[in-house]
Amino acid sequence: MSDHILIEKSGGVLTLTMNRPDKKNALTRAMYQTLGDAIDQAAFDKDVRCVVIQGNGDMFTAGNDLADFAAVNAGESSASEARRGGNPLLAALARAKTPLIAAVNGRAVGVGTTMLLHCDLVYVAENALLTTPFVNLALVPEAASSITLPSRIGHTRAFSMFVLGEAVDAKKAVEWGIANEVVPLDQLRAKARAAAEAVAARPPAAVTITKALMRDEVGIATRMDEEGVHFAAQLKSPEAKEAFAAFAEKRAPDFGKVA
Ligand code: COA
Repeated sequence: MSDHILIEKSGGVLTLTMNRPDKKNALTRAMYQTLGDAIDQAAFDKDVRCVVIQGNGDMFTAGNDLADFAAVNAGESSASEARRGGNPLLAALARAKTPLIAAVNGRAVGVGTTMLLHCDLVYVAENALLTTPFVNLALVPEAASSITLPSRIGHTRAFSMFVLGEAVDAKKAVEWGIANEVVPLDQLRAKARAAAEAVAARPPAAVTITKALMRDEVGIATRMDEEGVHFAAQLKSPEAKEAFAAFAEKRAPDFGKVA
Protein backbone atom coordinates (compact mmCIF):
# COMPACT_ATOMS: atom_id res chain seq x y z
CA MET A 1 0.00 0.00 0.00
CA SER A 2 1.48 3.33 -1.05
CA ASP A 3 1.94 6.15 1.46
CA HIS A 4 1.46 8.48 -1.48
CA ILE A 5 -2.28 7.75 -1.65
CA LEU A 6 -4.43 9.02 1.21
CA ILE A 7 -7.68 7.11 1.74
CA GLU A 8 -10.60 8.48 3.72
CA LYS A 9 -14.11 7.11 4.06
CA SER A 10 -17.10 9.00 5.43
CA GLY A 11 -20.76 9.54 4.65
CA GLY A 12 -20.83 6.87 1.93
CA VAL A 13 -17.93 8.54 0.08
CA LEU A 14 -14.44 7.09 -0.36
CA THR A 15 -11.91 9.84 -1.07
CA LEU A 16 -8.62 8.92 -2.73
CA THR A 17 -6.03 11.70 -2.63
CA MET A 18 -2.81 11.49 -4.63
CA ASN A 19 -0.25 12.85 -2.22
CA ARG A 20 3.19 13.10 -3.76
CA PRO A 21 3.27 16.84 -4.34
CA ASP A 22 7.09 17.14 -4.52
CA LYS A 23 6.94 14.96 -7.67
CA LYS A 24 3.71 16.56 -8.91
CA ASN A 25 1.79 13.42 -7.93
CA ALA A 26 3.60 11.36 -10.58
CA LEU A 27 2.17 7.87 -10.30
CA THR A 28 4.40 4.97 -9.31
CA ARG A 29 3.50 1.30 -9.57
CA ALA A 30 2.68 1.25 -5.84
CA MET A 31 0.35 4.24 -6.23
CA TYR A 32 -1.47 2.58 -9.13
CA GLN A 33 -1.87 -0.57 -7.08
CA THR A 34 -3.29 1.28 -4.07
CA LEU A 35 -5.71 3.30 -6.21
CA GLY A 36 -6.78 0.20 -8.15
CA ASP A 37 -7.30 -1.88 -5.00
CA ALA A 38 -9.37 0.88 -3.40
CA ILE A 39 -11.62 1.21 -6.45
CA ASP A 40 -12.01 -2.58 -6.71
CA GLN A 41 -12.84 -2.94 -3.01
CA ALA A 42 -15.38 -0.11 -3.14
CA ALA A 43 -17.64 -2.39 -5.21
CA PHE A 44 -17.91 -4.77 -2.24
CA ASP A 45 -18.20 -2.19 0.53
CA LYS A 46 -21.81 -1.27 1.22
CA ASP A 47 -20.62 1.81 3.08
CA VAL A 48 -19.11 3.20 -0.12
CA ARG A 49 -21.57 4.59 -2.67
CA CYS A 50 -19.22 6.94 -4.51
CA VAL A 51 -15.47 7.48 -4.94
CA VAL A 52 -13.76 10.87 -5.27
CA ILE A 53 -10.28 11.16 -6.80
CA GLN A 54 -8.23 14.31 -6.16
CA GLY A 55 -4.63 15.48 -5.88
CA ASN A 56 -2.69 17.38 -3.22
CA GLY A 57 -0.30 20.17 -4.15
CA ASP A 58 -0.43 22.34 -7.23
CA MET A 59 -1.62 19.76 -9.74
CA PHE A 60 -3.86 16.73 -10.09
CA THR A 61 -1.05 14.53 -11.43
CA ALA A 62 1.92 14.73 -13.81
CA GLY A 63 1.01 11.23 -14.99
CA ASN A 64 3.07 8.08 -14.92
CA ASP A 65 6.39 8.33 -13.09
CA LEU A 66 8.88 8.82 -15.91
CA ALA A 67 11.70 7.29 -13.88
CA ASP A 68 9.64 4.08 -13.80
CA PHE A 69 9.20 4.25 -17.58
CA ALA A 70 12.93 4.85 -18.06
CA ALA A 71 13.73 1.83 -15.87
CA VAL A 72 11.54 -0.38 -18.06
CA ASN A 73 13.20 1.08 -21.17
CA ALA A 74 16.61 0.26 -19.70
CA GLY A 75 15.48 -3.33 -19.14
CA GLU A 76 15.77 -3.24 -15.36
CA SER A 77 14.17 -6.55 -14.50
CA SER A 78 12.27 -5.42 -11.40
CA ALA A 79 10.66 -2.56 -13.35
CA SER A 80 9.74 -4.82 -16.26
CA GLU A 81 8.43 -7.46 -13.84
CA ALA A 82 6.27 -4.84 -12.09
CA ARG A 83 4.57 -3.93 -15.37
CA ARG A 84 3.70 -7.52 -16.15
CA GLY A 85 -0.02 -8.12 -15.77
CA GLY A 86 -0.87 -4.57 -16.82
CA ASN A 87 -1.68 -1.47 -14.82
CA PRO A 88 -3.87 -2.21 -11.76
CA LEU A 89 -5.49 1.23 -11.79
CA LEU A 90 -6.53 0.94 -15.42
CA ALA A 91 -7.91 -2.56 -14.86
CA ALA A 92 -9.92 -1.30 -11.88
CA LEU A 93 -11.24 1.69 -13.84
CA ALA A 94 -12.37 -0.63 -16.65
CA ARG A 95 -14.43 -2.81 -14.30
CA ALA A 96 -15.46 -0.11 -11.80
CA LYS A 97 -18.97 -0.54 -10.42
CA THR A 98 -18.99 2.42 -8.04
CA PRO A 99 -19.52 5.94 -9.43
CA LEU A 100 -16.25 7.87 -9.70
CA ILE A 101 -15.91 11.64 -9.38
CA ALA A 102 -12.73 13.57 -10.20
CA ALA A 103 -11.74 16.95 -8.79
CA VAL A 104 -9.01 18.30 -11.06
CA ASN A 105 -6.74 21.13 -9.93
CA GLY A 106 -3.94 22.30 -12.20
CA ARG A 107 -2.37 19.91 -14.65
CA ALA A 108 -3.66 16.44 -15.44
CA VAL A 109 -1.02 14.80 -17.62
CA GLY A 110 -1.30 11.47 -19.45
CA VAL A 111 -3.15 9.00 -17.26
CA GLY A 112 -4.26 12.04 -15.24
CA THR A 113 -6.47 12.92 -18.19
CA THR A 114 -7.29 9.44 -19.48
CA MET A 115 -8.59 8.39 -16.05
CA LEU A 116 -11.11 11.25 -16.28
CA LEU A 117 -12.71 9.46 -19.23
CA HIS A 118 -13.67 6.67 -16.78
CA CYS A 119 -15.12 9.06 -14.22
CA ASP A 120 -18.85 9.70 -14.07
CA LEU A 121 -18.61 13.31 -12.95
CA VAL A 122 -15.60 15.57 -13.50
CA TYR A 123 -15.10 19.00 -11.93
CA VAL A 124 -12.18 21.12 -13.08
CA ALA A 125 -10.68 24.10 -11.28
CA GLU A 126 -10.15 27.28 -13.29
CA ASN A 127 -6.43 26.45 -13.48
CA ALA A 128 -6.95 22.91 -14.83
CA LEU A 129 -4.93 21.94 -17.90
CA LEU A 130 -5.42 18.55 -19.52
CA THR A 131 -2.75 16.94 -21.72
CA THR A 132 -2.17 13.48 -23.18
CA PRO A 133 1.40 13.78 -24.53
CA PHE A 134 1.92 10.08 -25.20
CA VAL A 135 3.39 10.60 -28.66
CA ASN A 136 5.76 13.30 -27.30
CA LEU A 137 7.19 10.47 -25.22
CA ALA A 138 7.18 8.05 -28.18
CA LEU A 139 4.34 6.18 -26.48
CA VAL A 140 0.75 5.46 -27.53
CA PRO A 141 -2.60 6.12 -25.85
CA GLU A 142 -3.62 3.91 -22.89
CA ALA A 143 -6.60 3.39 -20.59
CA ALA A 144 -8.75 2.73 -23.70
CA SER A 145 -8.39 6.43 -24.48
CA SER A 146 -7.76 5.57 -28.14
CA ILE A 147 -11.52 4.96 -28.31
CA THR A 148 -12.93 6.89 -25.36
CA LEU A 149 -11.28 10.22 -26.21
CA PRO A 150 -12.24 10.40 -29.92
CA SER A 151 -15.73 9.19 -29.13
CA ARG A 152 -16.06 11.89 -26.46
CA ILE A 153 -14.52 14.86 -28.27
CA GLY A 154 -14.17 13.83 -31.93
CA HIS A 155 -11.28 12.38 -33.92
CA THR A 156 -9.53 15.61 -34.92
CA ARG A 157 -9.48 17.07 -31.40
CA ALA A 158 -8.32 13.77 -29.95
CA PHE A 159 -5.59 13.43 -32.59
CA SER A 160 -4.37 16.92 -31.78
CA MET A 161 -4.23 16.07 -28.07
CA PHE A 162 -2.47 12.74 -28.63
CA VAL A 163 -0.06 13.60 -31.41
CA LEU A 164 0.52 17.35 -31.10
CA GLY A 165 0.17 17.37 -27.31
CA GLU A 166 -2.55 20.06 -27.45
CA ALA A 167 -3.39 21.26 -23.95
CA VAL A 168 -7.05 21.62 -23.03
CA ASP A 169 -7.93 24.23 -20.44
CA ALA A 170 -10.85 24.07 -18.02
CA LYS A 171 -13.32 25.96 -20.21
CA LYS A 172 -12.53 23.83 -23.25
CA ALA A 173 -12.71 20.63 -21.18
CA VAL A 174 -16.33 21.49 -20.37
CA GLU A 175 -17.14 22.59 -23.94
CA TRP A 176 -15.72 19.33 -25.28
CA GLY A 177 -17.61 17.16 -22.81
CA ILE A 178 -14.66 15.93 -20.76
CA ALA A 179 -15.80 17.77 -17.63
CA ASN A 180 -19.10 18.86 -16.12
CA GLU A 181 -18.23 22.25 -14.73
CA VAL A 182 -15.45 24.77 -14.09
CA VAL A 183 -15.20 25.60 -10.39
CA PRO A 184 -13.07 28.20 -8.56
CA LEU A 185 -10.05 26.40 -7.14
CA ASP A 186 -11.00 27.12 -3.52
CA GLN A 187 -14.44 25.55 -4.08
CA LEU A 188 -13.31 22.51 -6.07
CA ARG A 189 -13.21 19.92 -3.31
CA ALA A 190 -16.46 21.10 -1.75
CA LYS A 191 -18.15 20.82 -5.15
CA ALA A 192 -16.89 17.28 -5.71
CA ARG A 193 -17.80 16.27 -2.17
CA ALA A 194 -21.33 17.66 -2.48
CA ALA A 195 -21.83 15.82 -5.77
CA ALA A 196 -20.52 12.60 -4.21
CA GLU A 197 -22.90 12.93 -1.27
CA ALA A 198 -25.78 13.52 -3.69
CA VAL A 199 -24.84 10.36 -5.63
CA ALA A 200 -24.46 8.44 -2.35
CA ALA A 201 -28.00 9.40 -1.36
CA ARG A 202 -29.54 7.93 -4.53
CA PRO A 203 -30.89 4.33 -4.60
CA PRO A 204 -27.66 2.31 -4.89
CA ALA A 205 -28.81 -0.51 -7.16
CA ALA A 206 -30.36 1.93 -9.65
CA VAL A 207 -27.15 3.97 -9.67
CA THR A 208 -24.91 0.93 -10.18
CA ILE A 209 -27.06 -0.50 -12.98
CA THR A 210 -27.26 2.89 -14.70
CA LYS A 211 -23.47 3.23 -14.67
CA ALA A 212 -23.01 -0.30 -16.00
CA LEU A 213 -25.56 0.22 -18.79
CA MET A 214 -23.81 3.40 -19.89
CA ARG A 215 -20.43 1.70 -20.38
CA ASP A 216 -19.09 -1.02 -22.68
CA GLU A 217 -16.96 -2.71 -20.04
CA VAL A 218 -15.83 -5.57 -22.28
CA GLY A 219 -14.97 -3.24 -25.14
CA ILE A 220 -12.98 -1.01 -22.80
CA ALA A 221 -11.01 -3.93 -21.35
CA THR A 222 -10.34 -5.35 -24.82
CA ARG A 223 -9.03 -2.02 -26.09
CA MET A 224 -6.82 -1.63 -22.98
CA ASP A 225 -5.24 -4.98 -23.79
CA GLU A 226 -4.68 -4.00 -27.44
CA GLU A 227 -3.14 -0.68 -26.43
CA GLY A 228 -1.02 -2.44 -23.82
CA VAL A 229 0.77 -4.54 -26.44
CA HIS A 230 1.84 -1.45 -28.40
CA PHE A 231 2.55 0.57 -25.25
CA ALA A 232 4.88 -2.13 -23.91
CA ALA A 233 6.75 -2.35 -27.22
CA GLN A 234 7.11 1.44 -27.52
CA LEU A 235 8.28 1.70 -23.90
CA LYS A 236 11.38 -0.26 -24.91
CA SER A 237 11.98 1.62 -28.16
CA PRO A 238 15.01 3.80 -28.95
CA GLU A 239 12.71 6.80 -29.48
CA ALA A 240 11.25 6.38 -25.99
CA LYS A 241 14.78 6.11 -24.58
CA GLU A 242 15.55 9.51 -26.11
CA ALA A 243 12.29 10.99 -24.72
CA PHE A 244 12.97 9.75 -21.16
CA ALA A 245 16.61 10.86 -21.29
CA ALA A 246 15.50 14.31 -22.45
CA PHE A 247 13.08 14.64 -19.51
CA ALA A 248 15.74 13.54 -17.00
CA GLU A 249 18.28 15.94 -18.50
CA LYS A 250 15.69 18.77 -18.65
CA ARG A 251 16.13 19.28 -22.41
CA ALA A 252 13.99 18.92 -25.53
CA PRO A 253 14.08 15.48 -27.17
CA ASP A 254 15.77 15.09 -30.56
CA PHE A 255 13.97 12.32 -32.45
CA GLY A 256 15.98 13.13 -35.62
CA LYS A 257 18.92 11.25 -34.14
CA VAL A 258 16.98 8.10 -33.33
CA ALA A 259 17.79 5.20 -35.62
N1 COA B 1 7.60 11.43 -13.37
C1 COA B 1 8.58 11.58 -12.47
N2 COA B 1 8.90 12.75 -11.89
C2 COA B 1 8.19 13.82 -12.27
C3 COA B 1 7.15 13.75 -13.21
C4 COA B 1 6.86 12.48 -13.77
N3 COA B 1 5.87 12.31 -14.64
N4 COA B 1 6.63 14.99 -13.37
C5 COA B 1 7.32 15.81 -12.57
N5 COA B 1 8.27 15.11 -11.91
C6 COA B 1 9.23 15.60 -10.94
C7 COA B 1 10.33 16.42 -11.64
O1 COA B 1 11.36 15.56 -12.14
C8 COA B 1 10.79 17.29 -10.51
O2 COA B 1 11.62 16.51 -9.66
P1 COA B 1 12.95 17.18 -9.02
O3 COA B 1 12.41 18.28 -8.13
O4 COA B 1 13.55 16.05 -8.26
O5 COA B 1 13.77 17.68 -10.18
C9 COA B 1 9.51 17.57 -9.72
O6 COA B 1 8.59 16.54 -10.07
C10 COA B 1 8.89 18.89 -10.08
O7 COA B 1 8.65 18.89 -11.48
P2 COA B 1 8.94 20.18 -12.40
O8 COA B 1 9.11 19.70 -13.81
O9 COA B 1 10.04 21.00 -11.82
O10 COA B 1 7.55 20.95 -12.22
P3 COA B 1 6.92 22.01 -13.22
O11 COA B 1 5.77 22.61 -12.48
O12 COA B 1 7.97 22.94 -13.78
O13 COA B 1 6.37 21.15 -14.46
C11 COA B 1 5.17 19.36 -15.47
C12 COA B 1 5.33 20.26 -14.25
C13 COA B 1 4.06 18.36 -15.18
C14 COA B 1 4.78 20.23 -16.68
C15 COA B 1 6.51 18.67 -15.79
O14 COA B 1 7.03 18.14 -14.59
C16 COA B 1 6.37 17.54 -16.78
O15 COA B 1 6.28 17.76 -17.97
N6 COA B 1 6.38 16.29 -16.27
C17 COA B 1 6.32 15.11 -17.10
C18 COA B 1 4.89 14.85 -17.51
C19 COA B 1 4.79 13.61 -18.37
O16 COA B 1 5.28 13.56 -19.47
N7 COA B 1 4.13 12.57 -17.82
C20 COA B 1 3.95 11.29 -18.45
C21 COA B 1 2.74 11.33 -19.31
S1 COA B 1 2.45 9.74 -20.09
